Amino acid sequence: MTNAPGATTFPGRSDIINDGQTSCPSRVMLRAMKGKDTMSKRRQKPAKDLIKIPSVKPYFQRGGITLFHGESLRLLEQLPTGVAAAAITDPPYSSGGMTAGERARDPREKYCHNGKDLGRPSFGGDMRDQRSHKYWSTLWCDQLRRLVQDTGYCMIFSDWRQLPTMTDVMQAGGFVWRGVVAWNKGRGARAPHKGYFRHQAEYIIWGTNGKCRKAEHAGPFDGCIDQTVLQRDKHHMTGKPTEVMKQLVEVVPPGGLIVDPFNGSATTGVACALTGRRYIGIEQSEEYCEISAKRLEAAIAGEILKAA
Ligand SMILES: C[S@@+](CC[C@H](N)C(=O)[O-])C[C@H]1O[C@@H](n2cnc3c(N)ncnc32)[C@H](O)[C@@H]1O
Repeated sequence: MTNAPGATTFPGRSDIINDGQTSCPSRVMLRAMKGKDTMSKRRQKPAKDLIKIPSVKPYFQRGGITLFHGESLRLLEQLPTGVAAAAITDPPYSSGGMTAGERARDPREKYCHNGKDLGRPSFGGDMRDQRSHKYWSTLWCDQLRRLVQDTGYCMIFSDWRQLPTMTDVMQAGGFVWRGVVAWNKGRGARAPHKGYFRHQAEYIIWGTNGKCRKAEHAGPFDGCIDQTVLQRDKHHMTGKPTEVMKQLVEVVPPGGLIVDPFNGSATTGVACALTGRRYIGIEQSEEYCEISAKRLEAAIAGEILKAA
């Protein structure tokens, strides 16, 4: 496979594409470079009837649930047009501060207040300045619109700072922006001091590829979701609750295909597996691919894996 300019291929792992955002190779990557990667045993041959990307073996594929390890833009452009009923994604926010310098910090510093990451790995792609974040996000959103069939859905998570930017991104990508769902995390949410309103909500910007069709299987869907963050259900530093994702995937009838190019710990995929939807996830961190594979395996068996 020929990589795009700037992409790095790790020795012995020519099917992995990385955009170089993770500058230090993780322990997992170092093991892979030394040829002692036990995780690659998990890689499976794609079944004939499942979605494939030429030359890239899925990291995990079973029962309509597929996870690819690699860089989203490079992989999205290799998926077939009109393949998905919805794109539901929680991209890096490139947020967490008022200035470019504050936003360029490691997610561990920005998003784990009191320095408590509870052992969850950090992740790349979260350090862009505002202009490059908007430009990059428009590129992947345009790919999502190509993948989502006519009248299909797009949902993008955002915090309050990036809300105006990401509503622009959705429209620049070619979706019709239709609204914002508020996820209320409850009063446990942080306030920098007593003069503040709590940063209690995150937002799901939603739209459709053209018309919004009347749903026959369910709906109308709740425009506010109340769900506290449970540590036992949080497998990623910025992981979203399984219950929130279960509500969002409901817009697609069972059996439909949902794509998430920023898979993280695969909460979208877990919701799909638990509710009978098909799934394609893409994730550039191998550590998070491994965590995802364990969660997905459990979800396919109808179980919700507890975070360590
Ligand atoms: C906000 S997290 C998603 C968390 C997820 N919703 C969950 O509940 O676990 C975003 C993820 O996107 C991944 N990522 C960032 N840039 C990427 C890229 N260019 N290609 C693929 N994955 C990327 C990061 O490694 C991170 O795990």
